[in-house]
Amino acid sequence: MNKTQSIVVASLLVSVGLMSCNSGNMRRNPGKIYTPDMTYSRAYDAYTQNPNFSDTQTSRVPIKGTIANNIDLPDHLVEGDTNAYKALSTSYRFNDAELTEGGRLYMIYCGICHGTNLDGNGPLYSSGKFPAMPANLKDGKYLSMNVGTMYAAIKFGKGLMGSYSSQLQTKQRWQVIAFIKKIQSENGGSPYIYGTTTSTPGSAIVDSAATVN
Ligand code: HEC
Repeated sequence: MNKTQSIVVASLLVSVGLMSCNSGNMRRNPGKIYTPDMTYSRAYDAYTQNPNFSDTQTSRVPIKGTIANNIDLPDHLVEGDTNAYKALSTSYRFNDAELTEGGRLYMIYCGICHGTNLDGNGPLYSSGKFPAMPANLKDGKYLSMNVGTMYAAIKFGKGLMGSYSSQLQTKQRWQVIAFIKKIQSENGGSPYIYGTTTSTPGSAIVDSAATVN
């Protein structure tokens, strides 16, 4: 046996020896796990049962009073408290882009009933499919409606109008109201005070002396 032959035979023997460790040609033992803490989480997985809570759920709702980042503080309005509605106002002032966004939101959520030009004759009503006449936001009573009452209508709904609180965040509600107030101011309503003179955020308010109605 020359040197090459003996190397081949020796390596064959080693291979057979290694294979024989694996009984039945099947590896049933996964062997060592690298970083087992990462393979098997020590924390409870989101949808597993959790003995530490009485309802056994691992996924918890946020603690009461938790406020998401960049979201307005709660308004504390209670449904039906019309005096609180009237007292509610906003310090939001919107630039052109934000006002345009308010208009876009209005067209998505409100225009179908209140009409694209706010006359209460949107396609849902004019087609006869919706029984109650939506408020004509260009009408005398609504032209002078205070913004807090409008806000409450969005938050809680009014009569046959449902609540839009799950669709519109606080800022978006005020954007929609600012859009309505802008159109109203051009149709006999009180002066528009929710905008900035330019589209630059934080610039001067158009008419800070006007009363918030
Ligand atoms: C499904 C139709 C419908 C949609 C959509 C709708 N409304 Fe209304 N809205 C009504 C009706 C109907 C009334 C009249 C309710 C009443 O006086 O009983 C009303 C009333 C109102 C009022 C007057 C509230 C009051 O106190 O008298 C405001 C303001 C208003 N809506 C704003 C909005 C805004 C803003 C949106 C979009 C976020 C919207 N509505 C979406 C049907 C709708």
